[in-house]
Amino acid sequence: MVEEIRFELADNVLTAEDFIRLKVAAGFIERPFQQAQKALENGLFNVSAICDGKVVGMGRLVGDGAMYWYLQEIIVLPQYQGKGIGKRIVERLMEHIRSAADPGTVIYVGLTAVEGKEPFYGKFGFSVRPTGMGQYMEIK
Ligand SMILES: CC(C)(COP(=O)(O)OP(=O)(O)OC[C@H]1O[C@@H](n2cnc3c(N)ncnc32)[C@H](O)[C@@H]1OP(=O)(O)O)[C@@H](O)C(=O)NCCC(=O)NCCS
Repeated sequence: MVEEIRFELADNVLTAEDFIRLKVAAGFIERPFQQAQKALENGLFNVSAICDGKVVGMGRLVGDGAMYWYLQEIIVLPQYQGKGIGKRIVERLMEHIRSAADPGTVIYVGLTAVEGKEPFYGKFGFSVRPTGMGQYMEIK
């Protein structure tokens, strides 16, 4: 049984500090402050999960806001995982897409899952597309 926990979701209030802190807590590399701030500014939407006044989870949408929408950095702090927070974050992002995308259009909603997380996203209608490709680039 999922342990009950009180948390709330807040739209577009994520700070660069919390963004960096959550990424590091999830095992991703520590991003420079300026880069994190610019990423948030240029993103389409973000949601924070707040528990006892502290941001314990987050999710972002990036893309062109018309044809392509990508879920990015869906993160719940390890001690808060398994309590339904990640599910509410993804639901909120999907709600936002449905309300913000133009009616009568076909859109693509994508994400890159960390290995092992595919079943989590499968619950929201995502399926693995084996031809996905990408690379990290160092800009000098
Ligand atoms: C992935 C992550 C966001 C899930 O958040 P969470 O709060 O633990 O998930 P929830 O408690 O809301 O779980 C929702 C549902 O997904 C299921 N689930 C969660 N993680 C899963 C996994 N790895 N595989 C299969 N199912 C999973 C839960 O059992 C639950 O199912 P139910 O609705 O049938 O009860 C969280 O594990 C996390 O932050 N991981 C570290 C960062 C990361 O890897 N992010 C993903 C980047 S792609």
